[in-house]
Amino acid sequence: MGEILVRTTLSVIKADVGSLVGHHVVHPEQIACAEKSLSEAKETGLIYDYRVTNCGDDLQLIMTHRKGEENPEIHRLAWETFKKATEVSKQLGLYAAGQDLLSEAFSGNLKGMGPGYAEIEFEERPSEPVIVFMADKTEPGAFNLPLYKIFADPFSTAGLVIDPNMHEGFKFQILDVIEDNVYELKTPEESYDLLALIGTTGRYIIKRILRKADNLVAAVVSVTRLSLIAGRYVGKDDPVAIVRAQHGLPAVGEVLEPFSFPHLVAGWMRGSHYGPLMPVPQKYARCTRFDGPPRIIAFGFQIKDSKLIGPSDLFDDPAFDMTRMKAQEIADYMRRHGPFMPERLGPEEMEYTTLPKVLEKLKVKK
Ligand code: F6R
Ligand code: MG
Ligand code: MG
Repeated sequence: MGEILVRTTLSVIKADVGSLVGHHVVHPEQIACAEKSLSEAKETGLIYDYRVTNCGDDLQLIMTHRKGEENPEIHRLAWETFKKATEVSKQLGLYAAGQDLLSEAFSGNLKGMGPGYAEIEFEERPSEPVIVFMADKTEPGAFNLPLYKIFADPFSTAGLVIDPNMHEGFKFQILDVIEDNVYELKTPEESYDLLALIGTTGRYIIKRILRKADNLVAAVVSVTRLSLIAGRYVGKDDPVAIVRAQHGLPAVGEVLEPFSFPHLVAGWMRGSHYGPLMPVPQKYARCTRFDGPPRIIAFGFQIKDSKLIGPSDLFDDPAFDMTRMKAQEIADYMRRHGPFMPERLGPEEMEYTTLPKVLEKLKVKK
């Protein structure tokens, strides 16, 4: 008899269900409440392991299990946990209690219900390093640039040239969030086509990346667009992503390298401004200046027998100090434009904010 291969699923599910002092930071009692809920689920055997954290005002549930992606029981667990944390928000009078829970009742799957999620089901390699990225005050398209660099730019990922297991390249699945189409493009041969799409970060979003040689799933991004789901602005779709690393995939350092450039992303203040994405240790995932600037944290784990070993707080490193300084310089420069583009988003993106209401009033004044 051959060895029975275990398929583990890593699910990262997040929601903003209220926070301390405006849209600033998750309250420790919300974390404790979520921890309790997931520890009970671990005891029943539904999940194998979990970590609870936050990136700014987003409560993050990191879970391992063996139920596969989009599993109703796992999604229900996350939903119920967010409901409980919303109760804490209400008791403490936290701001925007339950803001991302768009529906009253759970109906089998979190798709379109408000919380964002990234999930990967895989056969554990003998050693399985993964990185969970969590960002606040931005949108899923913020991952387009760094993911392109990680999986398609040899000036960033040396392994694309040097490692024979990666040399064939990767396949990128792109979601058009407006038309709901999915494209699949291969690198290196279709990289110009790929860039033609993913440069439009508010519309074409990298959803999944597979290794071309064997279809191994290397990365996934949460692709919910809260604003579009609700048909009006209800909060942002602060994204999460999972990237697997090493042994025929980009090394951990190659995965982190693109974040040394604090690129401009949409989502700062009122979901309506561009700001630099600043990589920070978890303790600094607290958005203050102009409700930002946008932040990203990275938790590294080893996964063993569906258990989470770690995290290592990967941006907690002076090697990113210069990036953080640069981000602040850029933040300052962008802020000097005040309400003018390109600090403020362009009109197509502002459609999903509260600006149209203001413009509506002007029509009456004409
Ligand atoms: C929310 C966010 C904030 C809010 C802003 C206004 O995550 O980024 O910038 O958009 O604080 O919030 P309200 O309209 O709730 O007062
Ligand atoms: Mg918020
Ligand atoms: Mg947020």
